[in-house]
Amino acid sequence: MSRCPQAVFHAKNLLKQKENIIAKRYGSWFSAVQMGPPDAILGVTEAFKRDTNPKKINLGVGAYRDDNGKPYVLPTVLQAEQNILNAKLDKEYSAIGGNADFCKLSAGLALNADANAAVTPNVATVQSISGTGALRIGGAFLNSFAQGKDIYLPTPSWGNHTPIFKHSGLNVKSYRYYEPKTCGFDFQGALEDISKIPEKSIILLHACAHNPTGVDPKPEQWEELSQLIKKRNLYPFFDMAYQGFASGSVDKDAFAVRLFAKEGHQFCLAQSYAKNMGLYGERVGAFSLVCADKDEADRCMSQIKILIRPMYSNPPIHGAHIVREILGKADLRAQWLQEVKGMADRIISVRTALKSNLEKEGSSKPWNHIVDQIGMFCFTGLKPQECERITKDFSVYLTKDGRISMAGVTSKNVEYLAHAIHAVTK
Ligand SMILES: Cc1ncc(COP(=O)(O)O)c(C=O)c1O
Repeated sequence: MSRCPQAVFHAKNLLKQKENIIAKRYGSWFSAVQMGPPDAILGVTEAFKRDTNPKKINLGVGAYRDDNGKPYVLPTVLQAEQNILNAKLDKEYSAIGGNADFCKLSAGLALNADANAAVTPNVATVQSISGTGALRIGGAFLNSFAQGKDIYLPTPSWGNHTPIFKHSGLNVKSYRYYEPKTCGFDFQGALEDISKIPEKSIILLHACAHNPTGVDPKPEQWEELSQLIKKRNLYPFFDMAYQGFASGSVDKDAFAVRLFAKEGHQFCLAQSYAKNMGLYGERVGAFSLVCADKDEADRCMSQIKILIRPMYSNPPIHGAHIVREILGKADLRAQWLQEVKGMADRIISVRTALKSNLEKEGSSKPWNHIVDQIGMFCFTGLKPQECERITKDFSVYLTKDGRISMAGVTSKNVEYLAHAIHAVTK
């Protein structure tokens, strides 16, 4: 059916008028878009790069460095890549949920003390785009299927948690976690807040090496938290981005996750291989749901795949092949466990060195928290003005909350760092 030429002309005119109004008002389609704030951590690195002071130190970035301050590629990763090359694997698409062997090995690493034990059938696991992707899949799943849509984060938490869960459609709330006075865990505050969280809400827990504070509950505190969370009928979401990296033992760092599994919680879990295998840029991680039984796990798995498909279709294959090679071969796995311990031990040793150098400088402040905290980060307790001064006067770069990445501290710069910290805090 042809339309009356006058009506077509009229419609075209109207459209043109609308375009003119938009062009006049905005100049172009996106001229109304405002400049967003720069990323807090990447901004620190940019400022560090511009600094010409040869003594400068970057303590902003959360990536492991060796004792020469250089990025570290694990020897087991290089070996796994050689094996993959020799095997001449194809480059076909992965399944929506990723590599099946990788998924079993990942769930096993988190949940089983015995590396050879099979994962119980009530667990549904998919490969994810590192830890961030695992959290995002979890957020999407919970937004679609959880009974409550409120997620409670510790204060403070990793800066990306709030945007990830908001993007997922959840309501982000908080519970007390860190006590600035002691630079330690506010256990009483956490218990009080958690006991008031409405039933069926989701609670986010850092499984180990809490970021940004480096403050973890002790085993007996985890037991109490587990009881309370069960009593309050809350749904735990574990973020485990640092397994092995905190204490040097993958088993010790999985204590909380395995305790909750043993105590019959149903929960979900985000894992990342960025830190413990140094696979930052490979973007490889896993998302698991520990369900009531196999039937529930199968149904949930089908829905997780439906959520993943329009997000990114299927995950990249290379990082998963590396992880599968390392975790699946006994000799490589044993060597990797030593390498993880090596990274953790270096971090632990620079914590001790920083504290003793501060004492040598004559600082009378209590610095025990530097060695009591665990993992990649230390919440120094430096105030915003002290952070500003240490950057301006000593070229030491850190985030404004006083968090430093211990990975950026080496046997060569620790003395200078202690001197700078003492100078701005005395
Ligand atoms: C607490 C926490 N969760 C998740 C992640 C996710 O990291 P990635 O996406 O690089 O695995 C990080 C990284 O810094 C983190 O600190």
